[in-house]
Amino acid sequence: MELLKQKIRSEGIVLSERVLKVDAFLNHQIDPRLMQQIGQEFARRFRDAGVTKIVTLEASGIAPAVMTGLELGVPVIFARKHQSLTMTDNLLTASVYSFTKQVESTIAIAANHLSATDRVLVIDDFLANGKAAKGLLSIIVQAGATVVGLGIVIEKSFQSGRRELEETGLRIESLARIASLENGQVQFLE
Ligand code: G4P
Ligand code: NA
Ligand code: NA
Repeated sequence: MELLKQKIRSEGIVLSERVLKVDAFLNHQIDPRLMQQIGQEFARRFRDAGVTKIVTLEASGIAPAVMTGLELGVPVIFARKHQSLTMTDNLLTASVYSFTKQVESTIAIAANHLSATDRVLVIDDFLANGKAAKGLLSIIVQAGATVVGLGIVIEKSFQSGRRELEETGLRIESLARIASLENGQVQFLE
């Protein structure tokens, strides 16, 4: 997605060989027009997949997921990372290890929002090692629902997430694929 790549080139900050900061439009400040176009692009790519629900993870997955849900006309569920006062019954959970933070955490979705007839598109902002995505997939499988694909805004192709997830037969659509962040430069894959 050319507009997204332009945005990454102009407003992304390479923090290290492994980390790209995009607080200007995705992880802190959000560019609504860009998110709308991201939603339209995911919708175009998954229009044929019979999606009935979108699942993402708070916080940064929510904006692109909602825009995609708007385009496809389906509800969006965000998995929670922290315990909720009101959301206590019948939780489906998964344990997720974060490489960047080096901590294990639990993510949760209330079981009543997913059913065995659902065809779920998973959306997230970043794909690095794929631990968050695997946690979301585990929850969807626990619900007996079908995962139709994974939509990623920014994929770091030099990390293992895409390869590991593709090995399970999952369809992955990433709107920007980063081959390298070496020498302070963003190199895209194609
Ligand atoms: P993994 O899920 O792919 O295994 O990655 P990891 O545990 O390393 O990621 C932890 C958090 O860091 C996630 O956000 C993930 O989206 C984000 N992340 C990973 N690599 C990058 C990067 O290069 N740049 C940026 N900006 N983020 C990255 P989170 O903690 O869940 O935060 P949020 O959703 O509340 O923003
Ligand atoms: Na994030
Ligand atoms: Na995320």
